[in-house]
Amino acid sequence: MELKGIDKKITEILEKANLNLETIAVSTAEELSSLAEIDNKEAKKVIKAAQEELGIQPMTALKFLEHESKRGKITTSSTEFDTILGGGIWTQELTELAGSFGSGKTQLCFQLCLNVQLPVDEGGLEGNAFFIDTERTFSPRRVVEIASYREFDVEKALGNIYIGSALNTHHLFSIVDELEEIIPDKNIKLLIVDSFASHFRSEFIGKNRLVERQQKIMQIAEKLIALAVKFDLAVVVTNQIIANVEEFLFGSPEEPALGFAWAHRPQQRIFLRKSRGSSRIARLFDSSRMPEREALFYVTENGLSDAPFSSDFYS
Ligand code: GTP
Ligand code: MG
Repeated sequence: MELKGIDKKITEILEKANLNLETIAVSTAEELSSLAEIDNKEAKKVIKAAQEELGIQPMTALKFLEHESKRGKITTSSTEFDTILGGGIWTQELTELAGSFGSGKTQLCFQLCLNVQLPVDEGGLEGNAFFIDTERTFSPRRVVEIASYREFDVEKALGNIYIGSALNTHHLFSIVDELEEIIPDKNIKLLIVDSFASHFRSEFIGKNRLVERQQKIMQIAEKLIALAVKFDLAVVVTNQIIANVEEFLFGSPEEPALGFAWAHRPQQRIFLRKSRGSSRIARLFDSSRMPEREALFYVTENGLSDAPFSSDFYS
């Protein structure tokens, strides 16, 4: 742990006491000095530094704007799509990709796993990706295909994508817990859970397990958001679509799964749907930052793009 303006000896004492940044940031000076052997004055300095590090100290709106402008964005490889998102997929928040099968959720995830590795001026974060795969859909062949077309060093690019297969929700929790160490160690700047919904939907069946399911979903969502903020990384999760039984009231025949409690957690919610041939439409439908808007993009054999790949055009 490194804290700006804090002596290394002090951070060592904090580490010995098993205190992480978040615990420090939400402690009072009295609590901290009783947990670790530091005096009250030092504890106050440490708490302030930890809050600054996490970006949670009280600040003016002007400072907040400055803080926000420094946040990284990963390009989707489609300028139109990037525009509706305010520059791409942002760090320090949870982005949900919802859509029916074949709508392009996983393809976009593959593209982001490569794009995060790009230099900042090319739309990347010069970082690596961690892909939590719950349905065994990670396809190295597809990633190789996209990487070669985009002129990545293919072997290097694949070596920068870490994959964890989550067999069930319990396993998903244990992988997420391990990420505290993996993220800084492997310079992870993008964390993906594809699909976030599937295990929750298949393991917690029936009305009597709904509360338990919601609690688990909220717990993991909180953990993911905490990682995003703490390590300044982008978190992207995919969600399925279910039929909206109240279609006649709300006018939409389908909606993302996982219910109302979940619906408030992602800072950005994107709905993907198929259009003609290889074209897709992305709709940003619940963002605290950007208006609701749609973008047209293409899923081609070379990954995402603004224009159709010639052989896809009439497909
Ligand atoms: P589920 O995981 O089933 O819910 O769907 P998804 O939204 O993750 O779908 P995915 O991103 O895997 O998109 C699959 C679609 O991408 C296919 O139906 C194709 O239309 C398209 N696709 C995949 N590979 C290629 C390719 O090599 N060339 C082209 N043109 N399209 C591709
Ligand atoms: Mg998929």
